[in-house]
Amino acid sequence: MKSAAGQKIKSLREQIRKHDYLYYVLNQPQISDQQYDKLFSELKNLEQQRPELITPDSPTQRVSGKPIEGFEQVTHSSEMLSIDNTYSADELRAFDNRVAKKLEKYSYVVELKIDGVAMSLRYENGILVLGATRGDGTKGDDVTHNIKTIKAIPLKLQDNPPDVLEVRGEVYMPKKSFAKLNEEKEKQGEPLFANPRNAAAGSLKQLDPKITAKRNLSFFAYSLVQTSKPFAKTHSESLDKFKKLGLPVNPNIEKAENIEQVIEICNQWEKKRFELDYQIDGMVIKIDRLDQRESLGATGRAPRWCISYKFAAEQAKTKITSIDIQVGKTGILTPVANFEPVLLAGTTVRRASLHNFDEIDRLDVREGDTVMIEKAGEIIPQVIEVKKEYRPKDAKPFKPPSKCPECGSKVQKDEDGVYIRCASASCPAQLKEKLRYFAGRDQMDIENLGPAIIDQLVDKEIVKDFSDLYKLDVNILVNLDRMAQKSAQNVLNGIKKSKSQPLARLLAALGIRHIGIQNAEILAQQFGTIDALKKATAEELTEIEQIGPVLAKSIYEYFHNSDNLKILDKLIAAGVNPKQKQTKQSDKLAGKTFVVTGTLENFSRTQIEQAIKDNGGKVSSSVSKKTDYVLAGAEAGSKLDKANQLGVKIIDEKQFLKMIGK
Ligand code: IVH
Repeated sequence: MKSAAGQKIKSLREQIRKHDYLYYVLNQPQISDQQYDKLFSELKNLEQQRPELITPDSPTQRVSGKPIEGFEQVTHSSEMLSIDNTYSADELRAFDNRVAKKLEKYSYVVELKIDGVAMSLRYENGILVLGATRGDGTKGDDVTHNIKTIKAIPLKLQDNPPDVLEVRGEVYMPKKSFAKLNEEKEKQGEPLFANPRNAAAGSLKQLDPKITAKRNLSFFAYSLVQTSKPFAKTHSESLDKFKKLGLPVNPNIEKAENIEQVIEICNQWEKKRFELDYQIDGMVIKIDRLDQRESLGATGRAPRWCISYKFAAEQAKTKITSIDIQVGKTGILTPVANFEPVLLAGTTVRRASLHNFDEIDRLDVREGDTVMIEKAGEIIPQVIEVKKEYRPKDAKPFKPPSKCPECGSKVQKDEDGVYIRCASASCPAQLKEKLRYFAGRDQMDIENLGPAIIDQLVDKEIVKDFSDLYKLDVNILVNLDRMAQKSAQNVLNGIKKSKSQPLARLLAALGIRHIGIQNAEILAQQFGTIDALKKATAEELTEIEQIGPVLAKSIYEYFHNSDNLKILDKLIAAGVNPKQKQTKQSDKLAGKTFVVTGTLENFSRTQIEQAIKDNGGKVSSSVSKKTDYVLAGAEAGSKLDKANQLGVKIIDEKQFLKMIGK
C-alpha cells in the first residue's frame, strides 16, 4: 500500500485495532464511541473508493459476504473435552486429594465459569482463519462467518504472534443484550430465548452473519490448544500472553495456593455473581503448571487437572396471590402470576409470566399455590415448580378462558401453536396495546401520549383505530381526567409531529407480524411508498435479500387485508404523510430488475443498489427469467452462469453508468 490512500487506510486500520484492544482487552477506552465511529466510517469510505485495497482482516470486513448455505463440519486439532462438575466444598477437597496423590507441589488458578458457548479459534500468521463450535468434541461446526462479527475477537493478532495459534474460550451474550433481544422478540410475537447461553448458541447458528452481528456477542479466551513455538510454562502465563496478543481474557482470575483458598474464592463469587454483566454458572479450577497438567492427563471426556464448581441456580419460595390474563396487541392471552413480593438474585419480584395455558397445565399451577421461582438468565422471573404440599384444599385448576377477559368475545387457539387469542377485531384491550405500540419510542414516537391517556381514549370510544388519534383536538382532550389545557396541547403537538415520521417508522408502528424497525427500514428503502408496498407481489417481496418467505407472507397478507387497507387510507386522509428519503434521480431504469454480482470498481454493494433504486429500478438477489440485467463485476460467480443459461442480458459497470446517463 504505497499510495497516499493506501497509507491512510493502513493507519486507520491500526488506530481502530488499537482502540479495539484498549476497549475489549484492557478495558481502558481512550476515545468516545463517536470518535471511534468516525474513524470507522472514514476507513469505510476510503475502502469504498479503493475496493482493491480491502483485505479480509480489515475491521470493516467483520460483516461481509452473503449468508452461507449450511455449516461445514471441521475436525478439531485436539479433542474439545468437557469438565467434571462438583457441587460442594467437600467434593472440591476430594478432587484435591486425587491431585495430591500424583503431584507434590502445585498451585491452582480459579476462574469464572462463563455461561456461554465453547469456541475454538485458530490464527495462522496472526490472522483469524477458523472459529469452530465444540460439536461432539471431535468435530464441530465451522462458524467463522459469525465469529468475525464479534468485535471482542481480533481478526488480526498483534505483538509478533506465533505462525499458528489455536485458543479456546467462551462466546457469551451479556445480560443486558439478552434482555433487550427478548424484549424485541416479545414485541414481534416470537418465542423467547430461555437464557443467555441459548441466545448465544442460537445467534451462532445463524446462516446470515448480519443477524449475528446485531446480537452483541462477546468473548473470553481461557485456554491454549496449539502453538507453533514454545508459548508458556504455566496457564497464567499463557493468559497474560493472550492479552498481549490482543485476545480478551476475563479479568477476574485468581491464583490459589491450596484448596481451602480455592473454596474461599468460590464462596465469594457465589454471592457476588449477580453484580457481573454476564452470567456465570460456577467456577473453573485449574492446575497452573502446564507440565503438571500433562502428567495428570485425562479420563474419558474430562481432564484430571481441572474441575468445575457449579452454583445452584438461586431460587426463592413465594405464594401466588392471583393469576391475571393480559391481552396483547395481536390478541394473545397471556396468563401472569402475581406473587407475594420476594427477593431473588438482587431484585424484588412481584410477578412472572406463565407464558401460555399449556405451560399452566404442565406445571399444574393454581391460584394460592406456593411455588419456587428462578430467574431465566438471572433476569426474567419464572415459576419452575409448584410445592403441592402447601396447596390450599380449595385451590382449583386454572382453566383457559373461553371468552376474552377484556371484551367478552370468543377466543381461538392457534392451529400451529400454543397461544390462545381473542379473535375480535374490536377488542378494546388489543386496541390499547396496539396504540401504545404505535405511539412507542421506536415507532411513531408520539411524545406525551402515555398509557393512561390511551386507556381513556379507548374506554370512551373516542379512538377506534390509529387514524382517530389524528382527529383529536383540545376540546376533546381537556375532558379527560387530569388533563389541563397545556398538557392537552402537548399531546396534540406530539401527535402532529408524528405525521411526518419516516415511512420506516410508520411501517414498524402498524404492528405487522415480524416487522420491527430493522425490517421496516429495508421495506421503506426498497419500496419508498405505501402505494408501492400495496402493489408488491409475494414473489417480489421474497426476492428481497434479508426478507425471506415468512416475512414476505406476513407483509403480503397485511397489505391484502381490506380492514388494514381502510385504516391506512384513513391515516393518510387524516394527514399522516411519511417523509421519504428523497434520493430519486431519474426514471431511466423504471420497470427493470437488476441482479448485481462480483466486485465493482466504483460502487460498494449498498451504493450500487441505491443507484439502481434512485433511477427507478429494482434490485433482486437471485437470477430468474424476470431479471432484466445482471450487472457483473470482477470475480462474478454462479449468478453469471445462471444468467448465461437463462439468456439474461449481462452488463458491466461502464454500460450501467451509461444507462443512468453518467
Ligand atoms: S476450561 C478441558 N475455563 O465450561 C476443558 N472452560 O462445562 C477446558 N467454560 O466446555 C475448559 N468458562 O465451554 C474453561 N474459564 C473457563 C470456562 C470454561 C466456561 C465452559 C467451557 C466448557 C464448559 C464445561
